[in-house]
Amino acid sequence: MNIWNELKKPFLILAPMEGVTDIMFRQVVARAGRPDLFFTEFTNVSSYASEKGRENALERLEISPTDSPIIAQIWGKNPDHFSKTTEALESLGFSGVDLNFGCPDKHVNKAGGGAAMIKTPELAIECFKNAKKSTNLPVSIKTRLGWSNPEEYKTWLSTLLNEHPAALTVHLRTKKEMSKVPAHFELIPEIIKLRTQISPETKLIINGDIKTRANALELHQKYPEVDGFMIGRGVFENPYCFTDHTPTKDELMDLLKYHLDLYENYPHYYSYEALKHFIKIYINNFPGAKDLRAKLMETHSVAEARGIIGL
Ligand SMILES: Cc1cc2nc3c(=O)[nH]c(=O)nc-3n(C[C@H](O)[C@H](O)[C@H](O)COP(=O)(O)O)c2cc1C
Repeated sequence: MNIWNELKKPFLILAPMEGVTDIMFRQVVARAGRPDLFFTEFTNVSSYASEKGRENALERLEISPTDSPIIAQIWGKNPDHFSKTTEALESLGFSGVDLNFGCPDKHVNKAGGGAAMIKTPELAIECFKNAKKSTNLPVSIKTRLGWSNPEEYKTWLSTLLNEHPAALTVHLRTKKEMSKVPAHFELIPEIIKLRTQISPETKLIINGDIKTRANALELHQKYPEVDGFMIGRGVFENPYCFTDHTPTKDELMDLLKYHLDLYENYPHYYSYEALKHFIKIYINNFPGAKDLRAKLMETHSVAEARGIIGL
């Protein structure tokens, strides 16, 4: 079964976000209103391929029953490590493998991965081919328009489409633009044309500045050829963004309690300080949220937080 052919158009995806879309937060989003498809945070193929890094890589690839269907996202620059990692993913319960060719983080790029692949297209293709021949799962790619000039999309996306990935997610910015300029929605018609000319079977997913289901449906009206839309930071503004429900204070508090409960099952994932980054998502948009948030930011344990919110 190819998951990309099972999804009804237009499908919605929660974007992979390092340090955010882990096994706990995905369960929180599923409770609020799940997307059609989840992605994991990205996992480094060289970590998985090394004895020292494998345990950590496997932890990042842990999934829960509410995650399915879910795609494992991987990054790196060593084609053999792409093969090794991809080989393992089917038995771990994934419905597909996605290669990250778009991350702008300087450590990732210095290691030759993420958006650095835009500068080494031959290597990118070798990694893609290795991943594809190592699994029966569909292999997709997530990338940006180019490295520094949005016009690079013409050659870069054509290079990728020539390999016929199962799906191609385009974050409508260059690496250099980071997330500092508005997404280039004006290029969607040209990108649709490229996909249709070169690889009509590849599902096209658009990403960047899409905050809500309503935003995605509006884009779908305008560009019905786009198969799916991916929402990232919109989930910080409203964890119910996949249903467009405006949550009540009680519903947000319920999600916070649920996240605290989950954290107690996975305390090794991150520190309590890291958990506090999520508080703003839940303690937001209701009267008194600012003061309550300030109090919670001063806590040092789940027990202390529970004492304040009475949950
Ligand atoms: C905190 C954070 C972590 C991210 N980590 C990843 C990642 O692991 N893999 C990836 O492909 N993109 C990653 N991204 C990029 C998002 O998937 C997405 O492409 C970007 O945020 C633009 O979409 P948005 O405007 O809906 O947020 C990350 C973005 C953020 C904000």
